[in-house]
Amino acid sequence: MSGESWRQRLLSPEDPVEIMKQKAALRALEQVRSGMKLGLGTGSTARYFVDGVGAQVAEGLEVVCVPTSEATRQQAESLNIPLAELGDLQRLDLTVDGADEMDAALRLVKGGGGALLREKIVAAASDAMIVIADDSKMVDQLGAFALPVEVNMFAHQATASAIADALHATGHAGPMSLRGGDSPFVTDGGHYLYDCALGTINDAEALASALLAVPGVVEHGLFLGYATAAVLAGTDGLQEVGTL
Ligand code: A5P
Repeated sequence: MSGESWRQRLLSPEDPVEIMKQKAALRALEQVRSGMKLGLGTGSTARYFVDGVGAQVAEGLEVVCVPTSEATRQQAESLNIPLAELGDLQRLDLTVDGADEMDAALRLVKGGGGALLREKIVAAASDAMIVIADDSKMVDQLGAFALPVEVNMFAHQATASAIADALHATGHAGPMSLRGGDSPFVTDGGHYLYDCALGTINDAEALASALLAVPGVVEHGLFLGYATAAVLAGTDGLQEVGTL
């Protein structure tokens, strides 16, 4: 199989937004070299990147990868992508992942797919992180997408009250909802998620610190200082932010 043929196969012509996601994923894939240790993101865009890694592994690319979710692990295993534990590798060369929102400073909101905890652990262990997305994810100000906050199941309603206090104390407000409602969504780590519909996030750094100070909060979906570059795909082509 030639390199060109799997690229063409990945670019299915059906849905314009899916094509954009695929193009962003393929641009990030150009940064991958044999010998790299890679973090594999989670979500519908990262899925295309994992497909591409799998196609290149089948052609001889030698990489070892850490998935950021059980869903990505299953996909990678189905493609025979070599996997390892982050605890054994300690550091990764590159992670490629999607985002729910991104601003011009490469600050992200993630966790719409429920995988933010492992995504952040893997991003923090990576020398570089490339965000791949369609350009609808680029925003002037973070917050329109409800911020996911992962919490321990124990007394999670009390933790939710403390989160509301932390939001208020940092000048933020908005309805919070337990993801899944009466049948709560359980993360890969065995936790719950509260989605905080803030509308706008005025001070992401202060909010991130305040949320982490709440006992019971495991992690939140603000990724500040992790992404080193982004590839955003639109109808008029690819836009790159930062240096790939
Ligand atoms: C998973 O928890 C998320 O952080 C995803 O990376 C994010 O939601 C982007 O997903 P899509 O690529 O499906 O939009």
